[in-house]
Amino acid sequence: MTDKELGKGGEPRQQTTDREMTMTTAQGGPIADDQNSLKAGPRGPVLMEDHVFREKMFHFDHERIPERVVHARGYGVHGHFELKEAIPELSAADFFQRVGEKTPTFTRFSTVAGNKGSFDLARDVRGFATKFYTKEGNWDLVGNNIPVFFIQDAIKFPDLIHSVKAAPDRGFPQAQSAHDNFWDFVSLSPEAIHMTVWQMSDRAIPRSFRFMEGFGVHTFRLVNAEGKSHYVKFHWKPKQGVQSVVWNEALKINGADPDFHRRDMWDAIDAGDYPQWDLGI
Ligand code: HEM
Repeated sequence: MTDKELGKGGEPRQQTTDREMTMTTAQGGPIADDQNSLKAGPRGPVLMEDHVFREKMFHFDHERIPERVVHARGYGVHGHFELKEAIPELSAADFFQRVGEKTPTFTRFSTVAGNKGSFDLARDVRGFATKFYTKEGNWDLVGNNIPVFFIQDAIKFPDLIHSVKAAPDRGFPQAQSAHDNFWDFVSLSPEAIHMTVWQMSDRAIPRSFRFMEGFGVHTFRLVNAEGKSHYVKFHWKPKQGVQSVVWNEALKINGADPDFHRRDMWDAIDAGDYPQWDLGI
């Protein structure tokens, strides 16, 4: 170790030379060193403006929380996004510019209402969340497998979720929308009925994550290099086709194999049968 690799307090410093192997924050910003927090002077104290330190601590402090608010039951897979058509007229984002270029991705599929250990084939909405590791930083595209949403105003979201979750006085039912609290919410929120009909239909429960569509639901704004905006929607279409199971099948599968969806994804990838989606704008 040379003098150059020691900080002013004598602490060892990490050195980064290889751009491809650079550590980043969760937002994709490069960091050279995650072993020394920012200090006021060589011997501290630690400065709260060190957002790299705070991000690392934030992640650690949340590792042992067993339950997310929603989408607790999920399964993630690595993959890549390959650009089929450049869209400079819509977006200035670097990874939308060069046809054929591959961007690494990580996609997490999930149910919404059940806890981490709940069964896979719940009558529920599925999440379809993709992180694109672009050269300009990480881009998250979150979606559901149903193109409409229960509410129009986000302030109703805690009430919607509390109504579909286990009742607070008894701790059940688990991953079930068929209970009074949920129907109480739906009956008082006319805007919820469209999505509720999708959820109660025979399309609702995917046969597998591989046969599932994804929808951004919201309208998003893309900005091109001239600063001009366009409103867009994002749709994922499975090349495998869309397939669902009916309630009778879901009940049997949940009993025999509560991990049916994650096992299906693992087995398909393990066998080299990689699922593919077209991302349409
Ligand atoms: C309208 C108000 C909404 C609120 C307040 C809300 C809030 C949340 C919260 C708090 C989480 C949990 C984050 C975590 O603990 O990791 C979450 C996750 C998620 N939400 Fe929403 N959400 C809303 C609408 C939506 C909509 C419309 C969609 C679909 C387009 C959606 C899709 C997802 C997905 C897929 C996840 C899981 C992400 C992952 O797998 O990491 N949400 N949401």
